[in-house]
Amino acid sequence: TLVKRKVKHIYVANWFFGAFILAVAILHIVNGMTSPASLMKSYSVYSGVQDAMIQWWYGHNAVGFILTAGYLGMVYYFIPKQAERPVYSYRLSIVHFWALIFTYMWAGPHHLHYTALPDWTQSLGMVFSIILLAPSWGGMINGIMTLSGAWHKLRSDPLLKFMIVSLSFYGMATFEGPMMSIKTINALSHYTDWTVAHVHAGALGWVGFITMGSIYYIIPRVAGKKQMHSVSMVETHFWVATIGVVLYIASMWIAGVMQGLMWRAVNADGTLTYTFAESVKATWPYYVIRVTGGALYLCGMVLMAWNTWMTMRGTKSVDVPIPVGPKNPRGVVDAEHVVPA
Ligand code: HEM
Ligand code: HEM
Repeated sequence: TLVKRKVKHIYVANWFFGAFILAVAILHIVNGMTSPASLMKSYSVYSGVQDAMIQWWYGHNAVGFILTAGYLGMVYYFIPKQAERPVYSYRLSIVHFWALIFTYMWAGPHHLHYTALPDWTQSLGMVFSIILLAPSWGGMINGIMTLSGAWHKLRSDPLLKFMIVSLSFYGMATFEGPMMSIKTINALSHYTDWTVAHVHAGALGWVGFITMGSIYYIIPRVAGKKQMHSVSMVETHFWVATIGVVLYIASMWIAGVMQGLMWRAVNADGTLTYTFAESVKATWPYYVIRVTGGALYLCGMVLMAWNTWMTMRGTKSVDVPIPVGPKNPRGVVDAEHVVPA
């Protein structure tokens, strides 16, 4: 696709997709380095704290290059398409790209605060995590501002709702992350459900919503139809999923802070105020709220599956030879050559 492109420059979405593909390969190569001991057995070349560091370098950059860069590529492609507006600032998108991929690479140690990892390494990771707020919010603002002049479309277009709310969750997760990487805050949040709330603000809110918005954009085009079978069902999906995510993350925030405070509470004589089991018991109601939120989110996906099925139903490719001409030199099947029954 890149080699045969018709324009000189490479559009920013492809920079993000390119970084995603390249970085995932590099992560696997570095994390998978082993030293062979016999034909069938080998040992990791890393040991002890270096092993931990490499694995979190891998782990954090999986967040940065799969769950972030890949989806930012979708933001830069699908939001301008659906809003029918150019990217708010193309210059910002390039600065965003280079700043983001440079900074992400250094932030891994925030997963290893208060471990055997040297203290200066933890602090370095913390500083880079705080810096990471800037490119992340640069990208979020660029995406949201792409709607300037088209805000009224949000009222009637559920696809744009998915996309903009996705960016809001992205902003939320990338504000929360730098805060959680501050050592004193991490001392409270680590091991608790606060981390799980953060993960799913990213996973369900950011990654999930931009994916759904993009899929709703693609499906009718693949099916050669004007829109999804039921637009009001897309709207319902949006609200069900939004309520689901909010229930999930709000309950886990409260549970997480509660757990952190219970675990650190000490009596005057220095003994622990609560046993671990007491904190599990206190968390139970919040797990009930999470399962409700998760179930709502799942219901939304079922609506989407049904709507997709109904949109695709009856779509079949033509059984006459696909015309080959200047417009379609390789006889490729595309939306124009698919006729709905
Ligand atoms: C500026 C951006 C971000 C920063 C600085 C950041 C920082 C952090 C911090 C400090 C933790 C807690 C580490 C711990 O105590 O164990 C964490 C956990 C996590 N974050 Fe983020 N975060 C960011 C954005 C995101 C986004 C956008 C996602 C998902 C799309 C995400 C996914 C995760 C995951 C999966 C974990 C849990 C890892 C595990 O322990 O299994 N983060 N992040
Ligand atoms: C309805 C949907 C979902 C529900 C109900 C759900 C629920 C859960 C639960 C119960 C955990 C274990 C938390 C713990 O350690 O106590 C978890 C962990 C995790 N989930 Fe999900 N999940 C959902 C969707 C997703 C999606 C779509 C993604 C990724 C895009 C994701 C990424 C993760 C990650 C990375 C962890 C590990 C977090 C950590 O290590 O702290 N989840 N999820």
